[in-house]
Amino acid sequence: MKTIATVNQKGGCGKTTTAINLSAALAEMGKRVLLIDLDPQAHATIGLGRDPNSFPKTIHDVLTRPGVGLSDVAVPTGVDRLDLAPCNVLLAGAEMSLAAVSGKELLLGRGLRDVRDTYDVCVIDCPPSLGISTLNALVASTDLVVPVQVHYYALEGLRRLLDTVGIMRQWFHPCSVENIGLLLTFVEERTTFSRQVQQQVRNLFGDLVFETVIHRNVRLTEAPSAGEPVLRYAPRSKAAADYRALAAEVLDVVPPSVEFVEDRARRGIQKQVSAIFQGSWIPKRQRSHNPVAPRPPFFLEST
Ligand SMILES: Nc1ncnc2c1ncn2[C@@H]1O[C@H](COP(=O)(O)OP(=O)(O)OP(=O)(O)O)[C@@H](O)[C@H]1O
Ligand SMILES: [Mg+2]
Repeated sequence: MKTIATVNQKGGCGKTTTAINLSAALAEMGKRVLLIDLDPQAHATIGLGRDPNSFPKTIHDVLTRPGVGLSDVAVPTGVDRLDLAPCNVLLAGAEMSLAAVSGKELLLGRGLRDVRDTYDVCVIDCPPSLGISTLNALVASTDLVVPVQVHYYALEGLRRLLDTVGIMRQWFHPCSVENIGLLLTFVEERTTFSRQVQQQVRNLFGDLVFETVIHRNVRLTEAPSAGEPVLRYAPRSKAAADYRALAAEVLDVVPPSVEFVEDRARRGIQKQVSAIFQGSWIPKRQRSHNPVAPRPPFFLEST
């Protein structure tokens, strides 16, 4: 089962908006999708029109009560083929109560086992922190989508996130994360500044950045108050089209290539990229395509 986490410890960059609408777009494409709300703010739950306090069991029970699996908490949504594992503020307490539990980072992965055959894709909406919930998502995921809001501080915090992902890969072996993609959000094609930041991120991260960008669009701000994904709220909007394009790209992710990294190095920005990728990795899939390719100094062994 493909498991995609929308993750960035930076707040308000579009994680929940992406989790909801990517899930809806994948469901529209015929995939059976489970959206897991892993944020005590419960924005994904609310954004799909559900009251976070109306559920007998939530994702909190999956993480804290042995024997409770995701199939016990998943509920249907108004979107065909899209189910929701809801969350509420109780999850905030789990960061404390699980602190001393050994194997606390593996709990979500275990919970996912009983729905492996029920869904094609699972999408996890992470909170704006690198706490236990996010670590659970990083361990359980095959793909990470990192929304990056196009503004002056766009790159702030990315290094820390990539470091954390790299550390996770060393600790949790074998780690299931195969792909990571940066998703530019709040893009405004008409402003020079937005174009410049976009270009800067692409120059620095190359193939690691999704070709699809999510434009700033008022429909995305309105849709949560209607309790619907934008694909239902405004199916013909630019925002709906952006998320459909993202879903198509996610299903066929192109990982960053060794050639890309070497090309960057030749162009003399090796230090910059090396600093950002310290502790990160090149996907296995790509390595096997280039068995004799010389390894850059920041290449991490994972086998
Ligand atoms: N592309 C966009 N255009 C316009 N508004 C957007 C866009 N993406 C998100 N928003 C709005 O910006 C706000 C923050 O988005 P969102 O909740 O998805 O961010 P987040 O990263 O999940 O935040 P948090 O870190 O608090 O969980 C929301 O009000 C959302 O409706
Ligand atoms: Mg959110």
